[in-house]
Amino acid sequence: MATPDSLQHAKIPLAHGSGEIPALGFGTLIPDAVATRQATKSALEVGFRHFDCSERYRNEQAVGDAMQEVFKAGAIARKDVFVTTKLWNNNHRPERVRPAFDASRRRLQIDFVDCYLIHTPFAFQPGDDQEPKDERGQVVYDSGVTLVQTWRALESLVDEGKCGAIGLSNVNLEKLQEIVEAARIKPAVVEVESHPYLPEWDLLDYCQRQGIVLLAFAALGHAMQPRLLDDPVIVAIAERLHKTPAQVALAWAIQRGTALLTTSVKPDRIRENFEVSALPEDAMQEIREGMAKKIRFNAVVESGVPGFIPRDR
Ligand SMILES: NC(=O)c1ccc[n+]([C@@H]2O[C@H](COP(=O)([O-])OP(=O)(O)OC[C@H]3O[C@@H](n4cnc5c(N)ncnc54)[C@H](OP(=O)(O)O)[C@@H]3O)[C@@H](O)[C@H]2O)c1
Repeated sequence: MATPDSLQHAKIPLAHGSGEIPALGFGTLIPDAVATRQATKSALEVGFRHFDCSERYRNEQAVGDAMQEVFKAGAIARKDVFVTTKLWNNNHRPERVRPAFDASRRRLQIDFVDCYLIHTPFAFQPGDDQEPKDERGQVVYDSGVTLVQTWRALESLVDEGKCGAIGLSNVNLEKLQEIVEAARIKPAVVEVESHPYLPEWDLLDYCQRQGIVLLAFAALGHAMQPRLLDDPVIVAIAERLHKTPAQVALAWAIQRGTALLTTSVKPDRIRENFEVSALPEDAMQEIREGMAKKIRFNAVVESGVPGFIPRDR
């Protein structure tokens, strides 16, 4: 777990992989390529050292371009940055895993992937279409492959030395246990939605007992209604400690033992989100006990179809 005075640079050693994952991570789920490149560059420059990518985000090239630009300037080296990317649902068949992995490496312009995740446990019809649909507009699933078979293909990537760690995303406790039990190489990281409105304590407890890092996405609640950053408990703590609500939510996530992902396209917010420092124990308790709402913002766990759930404003 992070020491309280070093949250910005906290790293969690990977028990089932090589290296350490920086606790404070930057997500690259940004629809526009130019904005992706600018945000990635800003995030590297302010100090973020973990970048979360995916073939599904269709912007790995822009992330790779930004990293190359910064690496060439000389102040930051590839070895200082932890890069995660993910296998999408249309590539779950074992023979499709290596080509998908290589295509991500090519777009990201990196030889070694620090962590490779299965983006969701749902296999879609294999092919080039990331969201294959039938004539009724329903997603076409692939019943010809199991998650364990896909996992075996990821294990081979670790064996080949091109990947330091492997993991899962958008799995529940039951699915995770299934893979942990079947795995030769256990998941190093599990990436799920988590924030004070969805703390996932049971999953975190299991992960900690198994030496798995829980990587929390949407750490600020994805700026959706009801807005986590307007929550009275978070706002009161922020005012009392002279921090911003975002800094409170991010510090909470690191101090309770998770790694996290946050995203912004705005340089001032990227800086704000990196400037986290420790919360006192009473604030940690207030957040743990004071959250009246329990909210999942992203429905991807239910069907494998990505998407934050629109709500009335
Ligand atoms: N595995 C998965 O299925 C999955 C699913 C979703 C996300 N993710 C990963 O997790 C990353 C983070 O998720 P997320 O985008 O939901 O993160 P988030 O940090 O919870 O939400 C980002 C939103 O908050 C706003 N924001 C950022 N910093 C702020 C601040 N200091 N004050 C107020 N608003 C702020 C941003 O707006 P501005 O840009 O306008 O600042 C943006 O709209 C993604 O980029 C992706 O890498 C993974």
